[in-house]
Amino acid sequence: MNINKYHILIITFFVCCTTFSFAHEGATGIIKERMDKFKESKAIMREINKSFANKDFKKIQNGAIKLNKWGLEMGNFFPEGSNTFPSEANENIWLEPDQFKLAIDNFAKASKSLLKISQDKDLDKTIQAFRTVAGTCKGCHKKFRN
Ligand code: HEC
Repeated sequence: MNINKYHILIITFFVCCTTFSFAHEGATGIIKERMDKFKESKAIMREINKSFANKDFKKIQNGAIKLNKWGLEMGNFFPEGSNTFPSEANENIWLEPDQFKLAIDNFAKASKSLLKISQDKDLDKTIQAFRTVAGTCKGCHKKFRN
């Protein structure tokens, strides 16, 4: 009798806790792919930000190229209804597809502009262009991320 209870406890623990850990890391497929891309974007932005101190324009340019590439393909990573747990994608993405597309375009353009401006190696202007990129990240999150 005691042993049975103990077993049930273990089984319950096992079932609930493995489910939990799955749920936590649970993003799969296209949702996981875009989350990884966004995490990479964040890392790139951090790298670029660090590069201002030593005026490493090459690094800034490499980052801008990667961001721009992501901006050009981002639209393909949001098939309708792909906002199931644990995604933070907001349903406005599919309710206002033109606005979402515009937000993607703004980001793609800003990253391209960062690339161009950083080629002139003017630090102030490059920082300004970087801020514009960051603004397009925030602008989209405000409306399209929960
Ligand atoms: C056009 C819209 C848009 C732009 C531009 C955009 N994001 Fe996002 N971002 C999203 C959406 C939507 C999600 C939620 C994705 C999901 O959970 O399915 C997200 C999620 C994220 C996440 C969380 C990823 C995770 O692991 O859950 C990070 C970090 C992030 N974005 C950083 C950035 C950075 C940095 C930029 C700019 C360089 C950026 N994003 C530009 C829409 C955008």
